[in-house]
Amino acid sequence: MHMAATRAAITGVQGYVPDFVLSNALLETMVDTTDEWIRTRTGIEERRILKEPGKATSDMAARACQQLLAKTNTAPEEIELLICGTVTADMIFPDTANTICDKVGIRNAWGFDVNAACSGFLYALTTGAKFIESGTYKKVIVVGADMMSSIIDYTDRTTCVIFGDGAGAVLLEPSTSEFGIIDSVFHGDGSGREYLHMIAGGSLHPASHDTVDQRQHYVFQDGKPVFKAAVKGMTETVQEVLRRNGLTTDDVTWLVPHQANKRIIDSVGKMLDIPAEKVMVNIQKYGNTTAATLPLCLWDYEARLKPGDNVVLTAFGGGFTWGATLLKWGK
Ligand code: UT7
Repeated sequence: MHMAATRAAITGVQGYVPDFVLSNALLETMVDTTDEWIRTRTGIEERRILKEPGKATSDMAARACQQLLAKTNTAPEEIELLICGTVTADMIFPDTANTICDKVGIRNAWGFDVNAACSGFLYALTTGAKFIESGTYKKVIVVGADMMSSIIDYTDRTTCVIFGDGAGAVLLEPSTSEFGIIDSVFHGDGSGREYLHMIAGGSLHPASHDTVDQRQHYVFQDGKPVFKAAVKGMTETVQEVLRRNGLTTDDVTWLVPHQANKRIIDSVGKMLDIPAEKVMVNIQKYGNTTAATLPLCLWDYEARLKPGDNVVLTAFGGGFTWGATLLKWGK
């Protein structure tokens, strides 16, 4: 296996979640659901919602980035590229990444968004890493941020209990040691768009009175096929990235799965034979924050990560998009 001379290491991680807590008890007063159903079918206890008027995805991301810069003693001017994974851009255009840079005072960078739903952070992470590995840049920020509450129908109990708002960001810097991103495996299958999408607001069905009347500016999900494809896709790509780097699941210190449903996470862990104590889980606190789940997991578990840990991130989302990234923690 070819080993790059320079790897991209995650040298800092920071999350941001809004203050407002949408509990299962509160959801019981909004739609026909129960705390019991939500807990047993999804593992979610509460999620955060951005309620501040005039605030959007870029504001959550900007807060995460500001704290990331402070924490890593990095001046905003030092950042050369910022990539943002999101499906809830502040606007259809311009992109959110450049808005984040403007809000944070990152003046010497360029940026763009990656639209890969729940795989957005992972796709963006690999893209950012390539600019470090090639020697092009020394400081890249990768963000995963979504304000899912802006596209959720709070009369649809099958989706509104699942999603939440949040943002996470990592700093990537060159590493000439073994630390850093080792390899990634990605797949896509556009035929999966049937099961997870938002019909209107794009070029196919531009916004109209009719699309509003038909509630087409909200997330549609056919949960069962997505559930099955998610378990299969995450399991297979973790196996694939380990196998081609001469590792087995026994070598994995931490599995970091996309937080869509606790039952999906448990199934993936079981199929890979990775014990639960090695699997990062915070879905109970935040629900599914789409592109933000992986950096929010790394943020919550940061104190427990040790240099040399073999970390495997995996995600599955709308598109379908999915994959797994293997990295050695440390800088
Ligand atoms: O992040 C991107 C990828 N997304 C995912 O990976 C999500 C994958 N899918 C899922 O996590 C699950 O399919 C859901 C959590 C969305 C749904 O769970 P499920 O076990 O697949 O439930 P279901 O849709 O088959 O519904 C079972 C029953 C239905 O009632 P009947 O038809 O059996 O009478 C639903 O109407 O549960 C009902 N139900 C609810 N009941 C109470 C659905 N949502 C709710 C609810 N509260 N919130």
